[in-house]
Amino acid sequence: MTQDEGKREAARAALKYLRPGEPIGIGTGSTVNHFIDLLAPHKSDIPAAVSSSEASTARLKALGIPVVDLNEAGSLSLYVDGADETNRHLQLIKGGGGALTREKIIAAASRMFVCIADESKLVPALGKFPLPVEVLPMARSYVAREIVKLGGQPELRAGFTTDNGNPILDIHGLRIEKPLELEQQISMIAGVVTVGLFAHRPADLLILGGPKGVQELK
Ligand code: 5RP
Repeated sequence: MTQDEGKREAARAALKYLRPGEPIGIGTGSTVNHFIDLLAPHKSDIPAAVSSSEASTARLKALGIPVVDLNEAGSLSLYVDGADETNRHLQLIKGGGGALTREKIIAAASRMFVCIADESKLVPALGKFPLPVEVLPMARSYVAREIVKLGGQPELRAGFTTDNGNPILDIHGLRIEKPLELEQQISMIAGVVTVGLFAHRPADLLILGGPKGVQELK
């Protein structure tokens, strides 16, 4: 089984959590793209979606699923999204695709966050995947200096601007022993829009696809 097949199987297993008649939150990335594609036969059950990126919005609209603003939708019963890394507590690193800010908002506004991934994303400790931090443009260098003080090595994501018009710093060299603490510390640096550490609002359910099938962790 390839990594992509693992992603697809995890996405397929998430379909059973759909709640007919209720709007759904949709994340970003290749695993979520599988999920969106698999929604095709269920689209009459989905009145609307709240999307975390322009890319997911385009894919949802191409399928004929209306995309609405979170302000219009209110709180959501279900949010489905991928991750770059997850630990056993379902704390995540997200933002490899650059959609971390909208993803964190939708996760916060959702009663159930189902994270779908291939099994390579499950790690003993977060931090091998560079931690994305979205920053306001004028604060880029200041935030980078503050992150060096925390022991990370920030690298500007070259040629990339988020859907919100901001740059991303990818932080290398962190072994994240205390995700809750680090999320708070980085979030408090002036100029940080969002850190891609999802520890205060982890996933509620993790669905991992791999050669031995699909496993669900709570
Ligand atoms: C986007 C994300 C994605 O969920 C994350 O990058 C995983 O992507 P993929 O499903 O392509 O492996 O956080 O901002």
